[in-house]
Amino acid sequence: MKRAISLCLGVAASLLAAVAPARAEDGYRLWLRYPAASASSTIEVEKSTPIIDTAAAELRRGLGRRVARVLLATTADPRVAALRLAQPLGDEGYAIRSTQVAGQPTVVVAAEGERGLLYGAFALLRHLDTGGAATAIDLHSAPRIKLRVIDHWDNLDGFVERGYAGRSLWDWWTLPEHIDPLYLDYARANASLGINGIVLNNVNAKADSLTAAYIAKAAALAEVLRPYGIKVYLSARFSAPHDLGGLATGDPLDPAVRAWWAAKADEIYRAIPDFGGFLVKANSEGQPGPGDYGRTHADGANMLAAAVAPHGGVVMWRAFVYSEVNPEDRAKQAYSEFQPLDGKFADNVLVQVKNGAIDFQPREPFHPLFGAMPRTPLMLELQITKEYLGQGTSLAYLGPLFEEVLNANTYRGEGSGPTVAQVIDGSAEGHELTGIAGVANVGRSRDWSGSTFNQANWYAFGRLAWDPGLSAEAIAREWAAQTFSPDPRVVDPVVRIMMGSREAVVDYTGPLGLAHQMATGHHYGPGPWIADLARPEWNPAYYNRADAGGIGFDRTKAGSDAIGQYAPELARLLADPRTTPESELLWFHHLAWDFRMASGRTLWEELVAHYDAGVASVVDMRRAWDALRPQIDAERWQKTADFLAIEERDARWWRDASLAYWMSVNGLPLPAGAAPPAHDLAWYKAQSYPYAPGNP
Ligand code: GCU
Repeated sequence: MKRAISLCLGVAASLLAAVAPARAEDGYRLWLRYPAASASSTIEVEKSTPIIDTAAAELRRGLGRRVARVLLATTADPRVAALRLAQPLGDEGYAIRSTQVAGQPTVVVAAEGERGLLYGAFALLRHLDTGGAATAIDLHSAPRIKLRVIDHWDNLDGFVERGYAGRSLWDWWTLPEHIDPLYLDYARANASLGINGIVLNNVNAKADSLTAAYIAKAAALAEVLRPYGIKVYLSARFSAPHDLGGLATGDPLDPAVRAWWAAKADEIYRAIPDFGGFLVKANSEGQPGPGDYGRTHADGANMLAAAVAPHGGVVMWRAFVYSEVNPEDRAKQAYSEFQPLDGKFADNVLVQVKNGAIDFQPREPFHPLFGAMPRTPLMLELQITKEYLGQGTSLAYLGPLFEEVLNANTYRGEGSGPTVAQVIDGSAEGHELTGIAGVANVGRSRDWSGSTFNQANWYAFGRLAWDPGLSAEAIAREWAAQTFSPDPRVVDPVVRIMMGSREAVVDYTGPLGLAHQMATGHHYGPGPWIADLARPEWNPAYYNRADAGGIGFDRTKAGSDAIGQYAPELARLLADPRTTPESELLWFHHLAWDFRMASGRTLWEELVAHYDAGVASVVDMRRAWDALRPQIDAERWQKTADFLAIEERDARWWRDASLAYWMSVNGLPLPAGAAPPAHDLAWYKAQSYPYAPGNP
């Protein structure tokens, strides 16, 4: 017995030693923190090409001697043919097998195309870095979505709109002559996730990015990204023929305008033969568009599509539109404008739709367009940067938010489904052209994303873009294992922190379906009282509609009838507050403060309980992070601890400011036991943050 105990203690001590941080970390290496190794396995390649060489180089960098020998080869190689791989892999999928090649134990990374080998190499590293066995490996995977794109909202002067990680990675000024090594590491990180497209510039685009000088700069970046399987795209300003070309109009049906775009596309493809195509924000928030000439979004998109079609390019046309002169509920406007155009877009157009109908809120019901445009390939746009979820500093893992929209049931088909994931991966309608985009959260911050945990959102986006069927929790486990340590004593608490973190933000900023309650412009911190902005739909009060009688936006038939944009079966459920998910209740209904919730509490009591739960979650996250201190390297631990302290302060601020305002309109006392706000409402209203980052 005594011996057994001392044995156990010995094992525990050696495990503890194993999880002690090995070297200083600043987050630069992201999740690609390969163990230090003095020698590498033998890496054999079927042939040398830029992409296959990139894959081999990554294995040399990361594999160490964890397996003896690796062969990277396409299915054209007889050694791969001998494996008799059953599944079709497509041009990006891979299979990885432990086997014998010429009598030697070998891990074969096999694919039909070169990019599959690149993704297979990263998958092998991920497998080992997350604690997978080095023997009897048998993995295969192929992406379900074709275009997996990161959208940079980066301006040509280096400012990143809604960026909280420093200035733009792209140093436009020194391009094309200087290639910053950052670009290479950025490409590696994206390739490790299977990202295959990058939009270089902001959707609020300047026409200058289409000038010869900037095309040359974009071409230099394309050259860096190409060996990593990544194509570049540009956001195009719709009025460019007028702004740059001196034409009198940008009318998409005008032959001179069409010729201008065709020539521009030819010019771009001469410099960048594999250019991906254009992303366009048109007739939204002041951007020019076909509507300026009395034309539809389809007219505009199809004109650009015709320009890039001869070169194999695509157009990603955004459905994020609402108008200052349209009094219709903002949540309805994109559907009203786009749904009638279903089937009218050219074959190489994707309509890019944000996950919800307003704007990347901490929680939104899925966008009704996902259930309403079967004849158009719809591309899902997610925001990786946390514009509305605490920006750079909060710890909010977005995996659950992404998963929630992907799994949302559109109720459009017979029986159940399709889900949003099945709409965007093309399986619902048999679309070949499919895509997903994430708005980047990277900049020149040493840790790329402004914090270690922000990196997880980039990671989660990439993994879900590859396979929208993965679970947010499984992705969090993978990420934590690679980012910190595969030891379950690290992974388990880190994943627990992550999995509750987004709901905490929902609870302390806008529970029960409230949304768009943030301060003006920079969008940081609370402002539910704001009602004086020029356009009604810019005001938080427009969304909360709080008054003495109740709170929430009536989107039933009696109100704006936004629920009428969903499939009938779903609309029926949403018409009744009793069958509306409580998490979306005030998005769809205006209810009395004493409305009885499922819990038996009144709506007011329930709201207060959610705000308190949000604050309590952040307090718990801090406690859990403190306990991890011995296992995490000092620099990354400290920064996260500091940021969690900021988040706790902000969570209390959101809770107190919101409650102070709700009490000013409902005149109700706080439920027993709830702490009063730290300040009066006037104090909260007086807070001002003119220099908050990311604000254009
Ligand atoms: C949000 C964001 C803007 C951005 C816009 C868009 O409204 O605050 O900065 O330009 O989305 O997606 O186009």
